[in-house]
Amino acid sequence: MIYKQLMSRILLLLFFALSATVVVAQEEANAQADESAAEAEASADAGEGAVSIEEGKTLFRNYCATCHAKNMKDDLTGPALGGVEERWSDYPEEDLYRWIRQSQAMIEEGHPRAVELWDEWGPTVMNNFLNLSDQEIANILGYIDAVYTGALDKKKPGEATVDVAAVQEKPNNTPLFIALAVILGVLAVVLARIVANLNYMLQVKEGDESARRKSLVEILTSKGLIAFVIFALVVLGGYTTVNNAIMLGRQQGYAPEQPIKFSHKTHAGLQKIDCQYCHDGARRSKHSVIPAANTCMNCHRAIKVGSKYGTGELTKIYASLGYDPSSDTYIEDYDNMSREEIEKVYKKWIADTYVKENGSLDSDGEELIDEQWEGIVTSLTNENKQQIQGPIEWVRIHNLPDHVYFNHAQHVSVGEVECQTCHGPMQEWEVAKQHSPLSMGWCINCHRQTEVQFEDNEYYKSYTGYHEEIASGERDKVTVEDIGGLECQKCHY
Ligand code: HEC
Ligand code: HEC
Ligand code: HEC
Ligand code: HEC
Ligand code: HEC
Ligand code: HEC
Repeated sequence: MIYKQLMSRILLLLFFALSATVVVAQEEANAQADESAAEAEASADAGEGAVSIEEGKTLFRNYCATCHAKNMKDDLTGPALGGVEERWSDYPEEDLYRWIRQSQAMIEEGHPRAVELWDEWGPTVMNNFLNLSDQEIANILGYIDAVYTGALDKKKPGEATVDVAAVQEKPNNTPLFIALAVILGVLAVVLARIVANLNYMLQVKEGDESARRKSLVEILTSKGLIAFVIFALVVLGGYTTVNNAIMLGRQQGYAPEQPIKFSHKTHAGLQKIDCQYCHDGARRSKHSVIPAANTCMNCHRAIKVGSKYGTGELTKIYASLGYDPSSDTYIEDYDNMSREEIEKVYKKWIADTYVKENGSLDSDGEELIDEQWEGIVTSLTNENKQQIQGPIEWVRIHNLPDHVYFNHAQHVSVGEVECQTCHGPMQEWEVAKQHSPLSMGWCINCHRQTEVQFEDNEYYKSYTGYHEEIASGERDKVTVEDIGGLECQKCHY
């Protein structure tokens, strides 16, 4: 009997070990998925592998936009390209790629779709683009589709284009888990059978007359096994739910694309502008707040053309406020101006600046003006904000849940905690991102470890007890925990 108990203990242990393996495997696979997503993102950045909408856009503008409308919906010199893959779906994919490279050759060969196009559009000839690689064509087609389906417009300014590619690249691990689960299941049954057999042999050896071998069905329906299966499901289910719940709304490392390519590296790093010059709320109030465009104007009334993007990014600030950089005045009644009137003002500014730098307005210049104007419109408008006028809608990065109370002034002014302790070396980054996890554990850990500067701080005068203890040498430090920093209601409404 002792032997039997021992066996079932071992069996139970084995089950635990195996189910732990599943959990670990899942974590590893998740980590791998994250990694490969990051790689996909990186390679999309580099323009290899995954489709890059951004690159497609550039190529389209350079090679195709002279004949094909940029909105993909209107006919121009050539037909509207929206839905083109659909129209070629009866033929192998290579045919469409070949058409883009050598349309005339395909017409001569009598390819049905090519001939159909020629009948409608001939004798207008489309250029050959023998230099385009498959990847480049894929990028162009990706861009065409994104514009046509509206995926590009619906995209919030914060959602980087590469994310689309990254998501597609994410490997699917479900088959692996199912295979693993099946293997473990079979293993479990085999082990259970062995135990049953050993039990049987033991009973026979002990001379038990009633001894008999347990059937497979009996094993499968035995209380122990059923209990274990239920237990395993609860553990796994609980694990996944808790994991998802914890990750919800938390986004360490989140670095969305912003409407203006504002760089903390340029401003807080190179130019050494104090964080609080712009985020002046941090010292005084609960919120740090993002500076209004008027704060930017303290400097950008004078610095109107940047060394990196020229008029491309800075004009967005002017267009949001109605500042005319050509005349250095604020436009009267800007709020009631039409899109066309606004377009005229800023296109003139961009054109004048271009002429000043390049001598005259050539076709490159025309293209640049259109491109920058389009950039201004997409950056300053979105599905909620139809007009260019009005505040710049920065994409919020940090966001604690509503039930948490966090106060900047308390930490910055009273606690004298550096911005960088929580936000990382922001002054080194071109793109702002969330540095800390913002989890409850993160807050609590710091409150446990951080000593409050107790001595010469007005705020702590009322803690006479601690002051006496320090004076008498009974206590050598006071942490945030000691002053109530772990009390639930301090952080929760
Ligand atoms: C010089 C003008 C011109 C340029 C530049 C041009 N196209 Fe065309 N494209 C045409 C014309 C015209 C047609 C209609 C067929 C014909 O007449 O040859 C056409 C047809 C097409 C079609 C077939 C559309 C359909 O509905 O099946 C595709 C796809 C296409 N072009 C893609 C491109 C791409 C991609 C580029 C840039 C790399 C490009 N074109 C550049 C003029 C041009
Ligand atoms: C010239 C003005 C300026 C200065 C100086 C500046 N910032 Fe910012 N900061 C901004 C703007 C504009 C944004 C919003 C755009 C962005 O996220 O890049 C921002 C965003 C942030 C965010 C993210 C806010 C969110 O959405 O959650 C943090 C955190 C931040 N800044 C911290 C700092 C720190 C720390 C410093 C000093 C090292 C600093 N900033 C200096 C203008 C400034
Ligand atoms: C205290 C002065 C100051 C303030 C305030 C300031 N900037 Fe700047 N900004 C600069 C300087 C200096 C540069 C570097 C110019 C250069 O390299 O040509 C710069 C560069 C930029 C650039 C890059 C331009 C380019 O093409 O290279 C952008 C975009 C920008 N600032 C946006 C903003 C925004 C948005 C704000 C307000 C939130 C702001 N700045 C507030 C001083 C300031
Ligand atoms: C103790 C950690 C801590 C310190 C120190 C700190 N922050 Fe924050 N910061 C946070 C947290 C947490 C949030 C998110 C707040 C929220 O979502 O309500 C945040 C949000 C922000 C935001 C977004 C706007 C807002 O208020 O929600 C800006 C901008 C910002 N911090 C700038 C700064 C600057 C500048 C300093 C230094 C003067 C600073 N922070 C110091 C933790 C800190
Ligand atoms: C880098 C360390 C650090 C982190 C991270 C931090 N705090 Fe604090 N916190 C402090 C310090 C230091 C004080 C003491 C300031 C004071 O005496 O009021 C403080 C005080 C507080 C207080 C006032 C406590 C009291 O008893 O008066 C609250 C509330 C608070 N923090 C909330 C938060 C929340 C919420 C978070 C996480 C989102 C957080 N803190 C993250 C360092 C930190
Ligand atoms: C120093 C600040 C702080 C203190 C003290 C604190 N919490 Fe929290 N708590 C947080 C933050 C920040 C979050 C949000 C975590 C997130 O978004 O992942 C949170 C989240 C929670 C949640 C939601 C679950 C979750 O992870 O999102 C619960 C429940 C909770 N806290 C309960 C408590 C209780 C009970 C206490 C007292 C024993 C307490 N908290 C004390 C900062 C604090």
